[in-house]
Amino acid sequence: MKTNRKLEHLKICIEKDVEAGKTGFADIKLMHKALPELDWDDIDFKTKFFNKKLNAPIMIESITGGTGEAREINLGLAGIAQEFNIGFGVGSQRPAIEDPNLAETYQVREIAPDIFLMANLGAVQLNYGYGIEECEKAIEMIDADALVLHLNPLQEIIQPEGNKNFSNLIEKINYIADELKTPVIVKEIGSGISLDIAKNLKVSAIDVGGLGGTSWSLVESYRGDERTKKLGNTFSCWGIPTSECISDVSKLGIPIIGSGGIRTGVDAGKAIALGASCVGIALPIIRAWTGGLNKVREFLNQFILELKVSMFLTGSKNVADLRGKIQT
Ligand SMILES: Cc1cc2nc3c(=O)[nH]c(=O)nc-3n(C[C@H](O)[C@H](O)[C@H](O)COP(=O)(O)O)c2cc1C
Repeated sequence: MKTNRKLEHLKICIEKDVEAGKTGFADIKLMHKALPELDWDDIDFKTKFFNKKLNAPIMIESITGGTGEAREINLGLAGIAQEFNIGFGVGSQRPAIEDPNLAETYQVREIAPDIFLMANLGAVQLNYGYGIEECEKAIEMIDADALVLHLNPLQEIIQPEGNKNFSNLIEKINYIADELKTPVIVKEIGSGISLDIAKNLKVSAIDVGGLGGTSWSLVESYRGDERTKKLGNTFSCWGIPTSECISDVSKLGIPIIGSGGIRTGVDAGKAIALGASCVGIALPIIRAWTGGLNKVREFLNQFILELKVSMFLTGSKNVADLRGKIQT
């Protein structure tokens, strides 16, 4: 069941128009410095995220797991994350919690021993029998540096078969974060997290997953009956733009991953200027993957070059220097 659903999601994301809404980055400009007072060759992207140094402030976000093809994708992308020394997240591990034979489709440490690696489960599962034990299993299964608990209330409501009980999750997430030794990151998948929500969470980081990139409402609209299609289309632009989430949630002072519609290195520069510690990307990565792993490398090289130009033109020698460099 769930593995078939994951395959359908992958196919739809690759083949259909699944992006909706606006990130808000088009209305934000980085502050140009006609005299950068920098040598291009001195620009340094290195950043630290929890216990790991990244060569660039980028995470390949959770995409897949649970099938043979997913194993190939996870190994390929994790290998690239190792080459670039950037972060990587596996897709929801629920299929492997339910069938341990699927665990190997998520296991990438053999080829990516050093990367910042994120385990993944849906937070809503905490209302469907999951607890500390399942969270620990997900972490141990892949030797993860952090556990991502994703929030997807819109997607679950659009899916006729979705899990719709989202009651008391704040308390349950906080309990998990408190009990686990591994950091917990709470992540939306495309409708965004506001400061109002984030400030109730006692987690180690927030991945804002804002509006303007992959719309899970739209993805579901391609799978379902007439009711689902209509509902999915109606809610395709529901949520908080990524740029707003970042500037809002970064007030909390914990690490923020800026994700949802990050498409260029300039978007990344703007996200960091607004307060993100690093950015997360999913759709462009999986689409590049369909052309082979070299296409993923090309995408990342171009993305990093664009970020470097943005840093040069704002006179930012390192990632931290970019903070606040927005035209007002
Ligand atoms: C094919 C595909 C599958 C995904 N599966 C998961 C998942 O299992 N768990 C999760 O937390 N997010 C999942 N996501 C969401 C992404 O990690 C990301 O939060 C979202 O797509 C927004 O980023 P984007 O606009 O760069 O695609 C998936 C995204 C794609 C494109």
